[in-house]
Amino acid sequence: MKVCVIGAGYVGLVTGTGFAETGNNVVCADLDAGKVAALQRGEVPIFEPGLGPMIQRNIEGGRLTFTTNVDEAVGAAEVIFVAVGTPPRADGAANLMAVDVVAESVARTAKRECVLVMKSTVPVGTNERVRKIVKSVRGADAKPIHVVSNPEFLKEGDAVNDFMRPDRIVVGIEEDDDFARDLMRRLYHPLSLGQDRLVFMTPSSAELTKYVANTMLAMRISFMNEIAMLCEKVGADVNDVRLGVGSDSRIGTKFLFAGPGYGGSCFPKDVTALVHVAREHSVAMELAMATEQVNQRQKGVLLRKLKHHFDGDLRNKNIAVWGIAFKPRTDDIRDAPSLTLVDGLLAEGAKVFMHDPEAREAGRARLGSSVTIVDQQYDALKDADALVLVTEWREYQNPDFDRIKQLMRTPFLLDGRNIWSTYGLRKQGFTYSGIGVRGS
Ligand SMILES: NC(=O)c1ccc[n+]([C@@H]2O[C@H](COP(=O)([O-])OP(=O)(O)OC[C@H]3O[C@@H](n4cnc5c(N)ncnc54)[C@H](O)[C@@H]3O)[C@@H](O)[C@H]2O)c1
Repeated sequence: MKVCVIGAGYVGLVTGTGFAETGNNVVCADLDAGKVAALQRGEVPIFEPGLGPMIQRNIEGGRLTFTTNVDEAVGAAEVIFVAVGTPPRADGAANLMAVDVVAESVARTAKRECVLVMKSTVPVGTNERVRKIVKSVRGADAKPIHVVSNPEFLKEGDAVNDFMRPDRIVVGIEEDDDFARDLMRRLYHPLSLGQDRLVFMTPSSAELTKYVANTMLAMRISFMNEIAMLCEKVGADVNDVRLGVGSDSRIGTKFLFAGPGYGGSCFPKDVTALVHVAREHSVAMELAMATEQVNQRQKGVLLRKLKHHFDGDLRNKNIAVWGIAFKPRTDDIRDAPSLTLVDGLLAEGAKVFMHDPEAREAGRARLGSSVTIVDQQYDALKDADALVLVTEWREYQNPDFDRIKQLMRTPFLLDGRNIWSTYGLRKQGFTYSGIGVRGS
């Protein structure tokens, strides 16, 4: 099948490469000339495990190409995916500017009857909005364009796996649209072999499903972050509570980890976008609003703990920070808790030394010379007054604590992910603090 993917970011690149992997002929179009040039050279502009070799294989197989010419890419495609960004506006709503631009250009240039698929996360009503754009731009005698909503649920760090082996493939489609239904079935058939993963529903339901899924996951995190706070007051341990609660099969173990607040390019913006859409329809999303408020407060938890430890004075303290990315196995730093921490530390007059296995370049681009970003994790620790663990990369899980202690000026460990909480570090002479763990 001839597939066009517009927007070659975290989602578009994985989507395009995934469809090429199952034999389709895919062209990915992106306005970012630097990104496209890198991809044409076979370089992957993002860190996503497993993606590089898959891109290479499909370029070599002649099934995957990249271009900056969106109109040309749309040309004769049978199916066109929209995977452009939908960042938050100042009022919390999703910014649909890029989606509108792409819809117009597809309506102008598509040469055949085709399916236009909204893969970007977009608010309820966007499918309808895109239909209107298509109708207003496309001539009455032009071949029809079928607009479908197909939100993406992949997670960065495991995106290839999530895309190739999805839990479900949500497709929002008009009930009588057999053309689009058949095409989506054929396209996704290889990813749905073991079990039918396709869930058809109306476009509005599909659009809402994506926001509900992310908000529910965010809500679990915020709830556990509140419980962590209570644990610290009553002498309980949030890790024990998590295990006790998560072993209930009705609840499950995932997204119950206390930490420095959720970040990334999805949860924060999707929770606020859901609140915004609901408000437009006079529905108060109180749980979603509280989820966001709790998260805002939680993003300050590491700074508050540091200030408490140093009696409110962080001036000229050397603070080592392990982890810049918003989570492990990605170089994505959008809305990362590390950035909130660093902004606060700098405002308090601290000196910041950071490390991340994959997000150092992104960190340098965002933070410039205001902090020192080192290439080796232990290099952040020389004469440090505190080490703060912000992202639970594997290489941070069981480090050389003797070496850490030797390098630091004062051995204070602030473990933002509770990964060292059971290592008996206090016995080794460290002052240890976690999030909701006993003694924090
Ligand atoms: N990142 C995730 O984990 C994830 C998961 C599920 C859904 N989503 C959603 O998918 C969408 C894309 O997210 P992302 O993380 O891949 O974003 P991204 O910023 O990594 O990529 C978006 C790409 O679109 C390109 N672009 C913007 N306007 C364009 C235009 N008019 N024509 C062509 N290209 C254009 C940009 O240059 C960029 O490369 C968002 O709506 C997001 O909410 C993201």
